[in-house]
Amino acid sequence: MRILSGIQPSGAFHLGNYFGMIAQMVKAQKNEDVFAFIANYHAMTSVFEGDRLAKQTREAAIAFLSFGIDPARSTFWLQSAVPETLELYWILSQHTPIGLLERAHSYKDKVAKGLSPSHGLFSYPVLMAADILLYDTDLVPVGKDQVQHVEIARDVAIKFNNAIGGDLLKIPTFKIEENVATVLGIDGAKMSKSYGNAIDIFTDRQTLEKRVKQIVTSPLALEEPKEWRNDNVYRLCALFLDEEGKTALQKRYEKGGEGHGHFKAYLTDLIWDYFAPARAKYEELKQAPFKVDEALTIGAKKAEKIAAEKMTKIRAAVGIL
Ligand code: ADP
Ligand code: TRP
Repeated sequence: MRILSGIQPSGAFHLGNYFGMIAQMVKAQKNEDVFAFIANYHAMTSVFEGDRLAKQTREAAIAFLSFGIDPARSTFWLQSAVPETLELYWILSQHTPIGLLERAHSYKDKVAKGLSPSHGLFSYPVLMAADILLYDTDLVPVGKDQVQHVEIARDVAIKFNNAIGGDLLKIPTFKIEENVATVLGIDGAKMSKSYGNAIDIFTDRQTLEKRVKQIVTSPLALEEPKEWRNDNVYRLCALFLDEEGKTALQKRYEKGGEGHGHFKAYLTDLIWDYFAPARAKYEELKQAPFKVDEALTIGAKKAEKIAAEKMTKIRAAVGIL
C-alpha cells in the first residue's frame, strides 16, 4: 500500500506534527511503501522571505531524517524537485469548483489569522491534491485539520475521472490516529506553530523546561487529589505512555501529595528522553549537509520517475501535446 504525506517547512516541528503525522509515517515504513516529502511550495503561502524558506526547508529535511524516515527504504524528497506537481495542479484546477475551495476551513482560519487572502493560499488544496494524486496514493496519514484537504483531493480526482471517462486517478483515503487526532498545546487549544502554544522538539533542555512550565493547569493545593481527565499536562504525558504507564500516572494524580510542578517535571523528562536519539541524529546531520543532499537526491529520483510516467498519461488524457 502506498502511504503518502507531506509537511510544510513553515517553522520548527512540534509534538503535534510528530504524533499527528510523522510518527505514523515512520512506523508505516516497516510494511508499507512510504512517500514522505517536504511541502516547500505550500510553505510559500506563508513564508515570504527566500532565505528563511531555504533555511527552514533544510531544517525540515534534517528533522524528518532524524525522526527515522529512511531514504533507502522510503521515498523522501522536496516537493519542488518534482515540477510535474505544478503541472498537475494546473490541470486539476480545471476540475475544482470554486465552492469546494470556499468551504475550506484551513483557508478561512488562515485569513482570519491575518494571512493575506492570495490566490496561492486559496488554491492550496489543489496543489495538495496534485501531491497526492500524482503518485497513485492509497492512504494519507494526517492530523484532523488536514482531513478536509484530503476530501477535496478525492472530490477533484472523481471529477477529473468523470470528465475524461476513466479511472486514471486513484481515489485516496485518509487515516487519523484517533488518540492523537489533535494534540493540544500549552493552553489546551490545538497545538500549532501559528498559535504560539507549541512545544518544539529540537530545543535545549532549559527551553523545554521553561515551555512545559507554561502549560496551563488549574491551581490546587499540593495535598489535594487532582483530576487527570482534562488536565493539559496529563494529556501530553499520555502521548508517551503505554496503558500501564497511564494508569500509574492517573493514580499519582488521584492520590494527592504531588503538584503540577511534579507532573511537569515528569513530562519534561518524558519528552527529553523520548527524543534523545532524534536530537543526536539532528546534530549529526546538521554537521553533514552532504548526507542530507544525498538522501534528497535519491528520493527525488524515485519520485520524479513515477511522476513523469503518470504525467505522460494525464497529458495524453487531457489533450496536451
Ligand atoms: P501547524 O498547525 O503547526 O502549522 P501543520 O499545519 O504544518 O502544523 O501540520 C503538519 C502536519 O502535522 C499535518 O499532518 C497536521 O495534521 C499535523 N498536525 C499539526 N498540528 C497538529 C496537532 N496539534 N495535532 C495533531 N496533528 C497535528
Ligand atoms: N497541507 C499539509 C499541512 O499543512 C502539507 C501537505 C502538502 C500535505 N501536501 C500534502 C499533506 C499532501 C499530505 C498530503 O500539513
